[in-house]
Amino acid sequence: MSANGEYQTSYDPPKDLQAQAHVNSLDEYKRMYDQSLKDPEAFWGKIAEDFYWKKKWDVIEKHNIDTSKGPVSIEWFLGAQTNLAYNAVDRHVEAGMGDRVAFFWEGNDVDQSRTVTYKQLQDQVCQVANFLLSKGVKKGSDVTIYLPMIPELPATMLACARIGAVHSVVFAGFSAESLAGRIEDSRPSVVVTTSGVKRGAKPIELKKIVDEALALPGTDSVTTVLVYDHSIALPRNKVAFTEGRDVWWQDVVPGQPTEAPIEWVDAEHPSFKLYTSGSTGKPKGVLHTTAGYMVGAATTFKYVFDHRASDVYWCTADCGWITGHSYVTYGPLFNAASQVVFEGVPTYPDAGRCWDIVDKYNVSLFYTAPTAIRSLMAAGDEFVTRSKRSSLRVLGTVGEPINPEAWRWYNEVVGGGRAAIVDTWWQTETGAHMITPLPGAIPAKPGSATLPFFGVEPAILDESGKEVEGPGQGYLVVKRSWPSMLRTIAGDHARFEQTYFNVYKGYYFTGDGARRDEDGYIWILGRVDDVINVSGHRIGTAEVESALVGHHLCAEAAVVPVEHAIKGQVIYAFVTLYGDATYPPPEETRKALIAQVRKAIGPIATPDVIHWAPSLPKTRSGKIMRRILRKIASREEDQLGDISTLADPSVVETLLSLRGK
Ligand code: WTA
Repeated sequence: MSANGEYQTSYDPPKDLQAQAHVNSLDEYKRMYDQSLKDPEAFWGKIAEDFYWKKKWDVIEKHNIDTSKGPVSIEWFLGAQTNLAYNAVDRHVEAGMGDRVAFFWEGNDVDQSRTVTYKQLQDQVCQVANFLLSKGVKKGSDVTIYLPMIPELPATMLACARIGAVHSVVFAGFSAESLAGRIEDSRPSVVVTTSGVKRGAKPIELKKIVDEALALPGTDSVTTVLVYDHSIALPRNKVAFTEGRDVWWQDVVPGQPTEAPIEWVDAEHPSFKLYTSGSTGKPKGVLHTTAGYMVGAATTFKYVFDHRASDVYWCTADCGWITGHSYVTYGPLFNAASQVVFEGVPTYPDAGRCWDIVDKYNVSLFYTAPTAIRSLMAAGDEFVTRSKRSSLRVLGTVGEPINPEAWRWYNEVVGGGRAAIVDTWWQTETGAHMITPLPGAIPAKPGSATLPFFGVEPAILDESGKEVEGPGQGYLVVKRSWPSMLRTIAGDHARFEQTYFNVYKGYYFTGDGARRDEDGYIWILGRVDDVINVSGHRIGTAEVESALVGHHLCAEAAVVPVEHAIKGQVIYAFVTLYGDATYPPPEETRKALIAQVRKAIGPIATPDVIHWAPSLPKTRSGKIMRRILRKIASREEDQLGDISTLADPSVVETLLSLRGK
């Protein structure tokens, strides 16, 4: 706070950082940005020279995102052939960087760590690739990965990329049913997992969850389960094994040759699927391809974190999310970065763990989520100030809007005012950062993702679909394709067009609301669709509702988001029970419904509140009025507005009388 009691609202790039930055002034950013829009061929063509291409491209870019002009299609680097794993690993080993550390692995417990060099990674990628080949996995095959944050996770992703297989990483916190749903959709023959993992003090038996998933219908494509023996979490003799299907990693991978063929694939060859929640139906398999994704992930990593060879980078995200794909496995490795890979949680054994790790490895670039920042902030400054943190240069945040108070704490307490904060807005679908400061060039404003990255042309639309010029707010859309953009939803191109391109013709629809200020800075306002952002994780209201209704006692459910000081948003569920149930029902009913959601989706989707609803507020045509439910959930019933259009306005009184019951 300044002397007159006002908070600083704009922060210039730190001088030392700026002096050596890749992009070191706002003018330089603007010049590059303008060129990226005016002459994408020259701009991306020059950047693409930094990669290895088995065959160069003929055309940089070709797209149609306007459904009124025909099917949506997006292609980058047409005619080129390359390989993601070669560019992430082999290229650096061949350039003499084999001894460089790729991963400083830090386990869940403080005394667990190991390092993996680029050469060791190359060997392991080849061994896993050879194992997969031996099981009949080939170019275009799907492989499901259900692993915790051990070096074998990125190595397995890269092994798939090396042979042209399509990986689908499922966050190892999703339930057996969620895992089964994803397996049913992508039909892999191989699933890769571990015996178990410890997250904080809590052991999780991952192999058991895989077994449960594979007992569910629709998963019979799986003929091999490769199980890494993670004995520090759960020893191998504690794990049930299905003969003929299950194999221990340690028995079959290390014996494989450390050389494996590279499948040179076309620029638009699918690289991975990642399932994410939308406003309707089941999670959708967002499909990314090869060349554009590579260039997008690598270029954003380089510029947004201002990466250079001497840096040690650390992103706390799990590879089960897009952040772990683009900013653990791919972006950093394309740049030959040395990075920390962390298996644990930021609060174990205590809230100082992250900063102890920063000191241990001299981390200079750190990337995490607002929810983690807020929970560490709540734990108290003493957990931070016991460490030096003098190595920190760039502090990133992603996943949800960051409130200015948390931003300032991150800047002042964690970064000691010496580091630049980059608030990066992007999505599973965008593949890479979209709106973000460049740390040496763009002055930051707490709570704003600032300005678009190179090649990204955002716009804000009003209700009628008209572009808002200058300051104003509305729906955030993007006006043209960019290299790392999703190409389709696996197996459902119609849903892809419907979700992203039919809302406003000619634009990619993000699902977020945004405001532009007088300096052209963009402030993300959060989701405008039925997606709840819990601790930076996307959960569809429809998914939670269908999980609740899956319980035999639940007749109807309506789920809304409520603001939460640490998690950003939490899940608030209104539930109607079958028949002539009395309200409130016995406590066991609540427990059973919560258990049902955890079983169907996973612990991250646990409703914070179940609010009993003998009936839900509906219009005369039977539509649930979520606006009213949101107000009741947020304790803003004084702002319910007009409820006379309800079929039965007395429903509201009954709901209010059952609050907290
Ligand atoms: C939200 C995560 C505000 C947003 C990379 C988006 C953010 C959704 C930010 C995507 C940010 C992500 N500021 N909101 N810096 N970053 N979001 O697909 O609502 O898991 O649409 O990708 O997270 O979540 P996803």
